[in-house]
Amino acid sequence: MDSMLGLKRTHSCGDLNSKLDGQEVVLCGWVSRRRDHGGLIFVDLRDRSGMVQVVFSPEVAETAFRKAETVRNEYVLAIRGTVKLRDKDTVNANMPTGEIEISGQELRILNAAKTPPFYIQDDIDVDETLRLKYRYLDLRRPEMQRNMILRHRVTKLMRDFFDRNNFMEIETPILIKSTPEGARDYLVPSRVNPGKFFALPQSPQIYKQILMVAGFERYFQIARCFRDEDLRADRQPEFTQLDIEISFIDREEMLTMMEEMIAYLFKEAIGVEVSTPFMRLSYEDAMNKYGSDKPDLRFDMELIDISDAVKGSEFKVFESMLSSGGRVKAIKVPGYSHIPRKELDGLVEYVSTYGGKGLAWMCYTPDGIKSQITKFFSGAIVDKITVATNAVEGDLLLIMADQPEVVNPALGQLRLEMARRLNMIDSAKLTFLWVVDFPMFEYDTEEKRWVAMHHMFTSPRDEDVEFLENNPGQMRAKAYDMVLNGTEIGGGSIRIYQRELQERIFKAIGFSTEEATEKFGYLLEAFDYGTPPHGGIAFGLDRLLMLMAGRSSIRDVIPFPKTQSATDLMAQAPGSVSSRQLKDLSIKLDVLTKK
Ligand code: AMO
Ligand code: AMP
Repeated sequence: MDSMLGLKRTHSCGDLNSKLDGQEVVLCGWVSRRRDHGGLIFVDLRDRSGMVQVVFSPEVAETAFRKAETVRNEYVLAIRGTVKLRDKDTVNANMPTGEIEISGQELRILNAAKTPPFYIQDDIDVDETLRLKYRYLDLRRPEMQRNMILRHRVTKLMRDFFDRNNFMEIETPILIKSTPEGARDYLVPSRVNPGKFFALPQSPQIYKQILMVAGFERYFQIARCFRDEDLRADRQPEFTQLDIEISFIDREEMLTMMEEMIAYLFKEAIGVEVSTPFMRLSYEDAMNKYGSDKPDLRFDMELIDISDAVKGSEFKVFESMLSSGGRVKAIKVPGYSHIPRKELDGLVEYVSTYGGKGLAWMCYTPDGIKSQITKFFSGAIVDKITVATNAVEGDLLLIMADQPEVVNPALGQLRLEMARRLNMIDSAKLTFLWVVDFPMFEYDTEEKRWVAMHHMFTSPRDEDVEFLENNPGQMRAKAYDMVLNGTEIGGGSIRIYQRELQERIFKAIGFSTEEATEKFGYLLEAFDYGTPPHGGIAFGLDRLLMLMAGRSSIRDVIPFPKTQSATDLMAQAPGSVSSRQLKDLSIKLDVLTKK
């Protein structure tokens, strides 16, 4: 192995260009590829900034050439050489530095490398578990480097934006008290207080509200959050929020400021103009029209209520649904009346995974309407359906009857699925919206009680407070979610800031006074000391970056993510600990169940 003694890096590989023709440079980096063309050896040298081709020739530098024969992929090199313009016919238009190459004069091998288990390049087709095990190699790939650079850039821009708007970044504790509700907590045993546990924060929620009581007025934090919940492509047990809380603000001011922030990030980080204000959709409309509280509005295909059109038919399924409060709804898939029968059967199965009891169809083919249910309909009913849906020749109607809680989400999923199958989604589009006026509570049928839909510090709309004790299901909250392309990227609310109302909410979700005092006494007490009206929001930084980077998994924008089963494959965490450590913590492992 060589030392770098006397060689001082002068340039980064990606920064070299034709203007430097003739200049001597010293570069450091990794061997991305080495090709031996008989008399010449080509090395693509890569560092964080990019890649450049270095040529070694025995005529130019015999010693360096001999050494170049021994290097392999991922060796770490220092190279001294001269920038040369390439001949016209050897210019590589696919490479930003493709107009030039480096004529190598001196080569030092700073470190060798084993053959990596996969190629360090973009668009590799390898199992993700291998990528996660060798994350340091995966992170060397140009696209992962770009993702991490984007992450750095976006958090820097966030700090700039909030600093400019008079916010303060304030840290909140990582070791906190376990609170009920929300996801499951990650717990940390206390050695000093045997038998007692801290929890890792699911979000800085209570602390940021206390910071408002403490008079800081405008807070933000790029905060790590921990939730022990089942993972999906857009969920990690450990993730990052851009967390915000503001005093003396109403909902409209909040939404406007956040739109401004998002537009600034997209413009500065990825050069995309985002037009504001964003569309606002009530929760009720979102569910009725798109069957989702985070609708993807890059395409239409709304859910159409055809209950009135089909009323009075001979089809028992529809009639009995309608008479028990259900609805009959349809989506119109344009130009797909020729859908194969087999696919239709598959769709029935598809909706059944979302609780759908069946699916009916009407294919508006050139030879007339093909359907399994029109035999139950009079011509007048068929006409009414056609008018209600504006169906024309070539269209396919997919129809479902059920209670709204079933038909909306199931058809909403089918809407997404059909759009994916028929390539109806323009992946270059960014469609933002706000979903507002969420219900305050939803009924948990298992626990037989109301639970807060956003969280229990969310204020109800003023006009709904009177329903709190008698009809909580009817109440709407001052809550809002920002949605981008069908992903919830942020959510927040205007908060309760009066003790009396907060206590009534605790009661409504089934906390006794003692429980409420035990868990949240300090917040209630703080409310007694002059709490300003306030509100806030938190964005999922990882989700935002995933969408900015055009990826479909948040793992691609997190340096060291966990797997689906919440493990770190590289470090092999979680792991066992010694009996001594357990004893220190007063913990005995005797209810361990094997999975
Ligand atoms: P909420 O629970 O809606 O609100 O979270 C805010 C945003 O965080 C992101 N997010 C996640 N991202 C990755 N992995 C997860 N497991 C995960 N869970 C949530 C989502 C979500 O919109 N304290 C409140 C905010 C407030 O009221 O101010 C809160 O945490 O993008
Ligand atoms: P059945 O009477 O159960 O044989 O259903 C006749 C047809 O209606 C089948 O093709 C079913 O898929 C369809 N169907 C059944 N239940 C529903 C429903 N709730 N909504 C829409 N179509 C249904």
